[in-house]
Amino acid sequence: MRRFLTVSCLFLISASSLFAQQKTALTPPMGWNSWNHFADHVTDADVRSAADALVSSGMRDAGYVYVNVDDTWEGKRDAQGVLHTNSKFPNMKALGDYIHSKGLKFGIYSSPGSKTCGGYEGSLGHEEQDAKLYASWGIDFLKYDLCSFEDKMKEAEAQHPEDPNAANKLMIAAYQKMGNALKATGRPILYSLCQYGLDQTWKWGPALGANMWRTTDDINDSYGRMIAIGFSQAGLSKYAGPGHWNDPDMLEIGNGKMTEDEYRTHMTLWVLLAAPLLAGNDLSKMTESDKRLLMNKEAIAIDQDQLGKQGDRLYESGDLDVWTKPLSGGRVAIGFFNRSWSTRKVSVDLNQIGFNHGANVRDVWKAKDLGHLSGIVSDTLPTHGATLLIVSR
Ligand code: GAL
Repeated sequence: MRRFLTVSCLFLISASSLFAQQKTALTPPMGWNSWNHFADHVTDADVRSAADALVSSGMRDAGYVYVNVDDTWEGKRDAQGVLHTNSKFPNMKALGDYIHSKGLKFGIYSSPGSKTCGGYEGSLGHEEQDAKLYASWGIDFLKYDLCSFEDKMKEAEAQHPEDPNAANKLMIAAYQKMGNALKATGRPILYSLCQYGLDQTWKWGPALGANMWRTTDDINDSYGRMIAIGFSQAGLSKYAGPGHWNDPDMLEIGNGKMTEDEYRTHMTLWVLLAAPLLAGNDLSKMTESDKRLLMNKEAIAIDQDQLGKQGDRLYESGDLDVWTKPLSGGRVAIGFFNRSWSTRKVSVDLNQIGFNHGANVRDVWKAKDLGHLSGIVSDTLPTHGATLLIVSR
């Protein structure tokens, strides 16, 4: 009887942790990450003040709940292999408790290699130990960044010239290993793969429990880089869905090197892509324009739509682009983009997207109902501008 109870209890625990794992990231994850603004200077105080600002600015209530510490928190391992933090992060458990006390979630960063991209301690050979440590700190999100594991992949390639997939197999096994270690903790920890889209991550990421995976190399705070990444996502929509998302990298809105129209393009494209929305700015210094872009409820609702469909390109004509994203209730979100250096008119034919009898059209950024329109719908866009529409029957 006792044995039966133990077995059934174990079954219940593993079934509930499996359920918890499946429930993670039903919509694209939202939050803040330290890297794009603070990079290797980030400290415990910066992360606490980001958590405070998420609450006071209204970002948390708009959906931005993960507070993610990126690279450079790591210290050295002790004789037992336990990883310690460096002096910038005196107490991760206390930091996690602080973040949780604000109704937020706590994210961290590591690498399958021996070193992270910043040259700090990675998880190679310590995967289970690190996963348990994260769980003991109350971690809810792990970004796992390839970095020095690329050296191991090169070695595998040299050792197995007969196998063109040797390097990728090793990489996938390394990501699987940490995926298993996270699951074994019993704590739902969102698993975010960062290996720059190598070997078409979107094809194998979901099978090993990844909730999101980077599809490209790093973004930076420039219009050129942001659109190169954003528009290169065409064709990837079929690989995203509830629990598993393509990640075209974190947001740069608010970091200051793009115009308001360019940041509007950034947000418009990312919500149409059902991309994870991880703000990467200094939240204590947001302008009204940054807040308007990051916290527009209708734009966020497009990203977070319960249908969980990523948008894709409808057509491209030179520097003009039109993207659509299916939404729940038979609605469709449409993005117009003008990448040119002049003001340009961009149009969509509603018949082409199934609205043969016209549609109610709402302009999200202008917060304006445009009425019941049919046939061709157009807007005039400034240089590098974007328009975001929702059409419904
Ligand atoms: C890069 C990664 C960035 C950031 C950085 C930290 O590889 O793409 O998002 O995490 O490493 O060193």
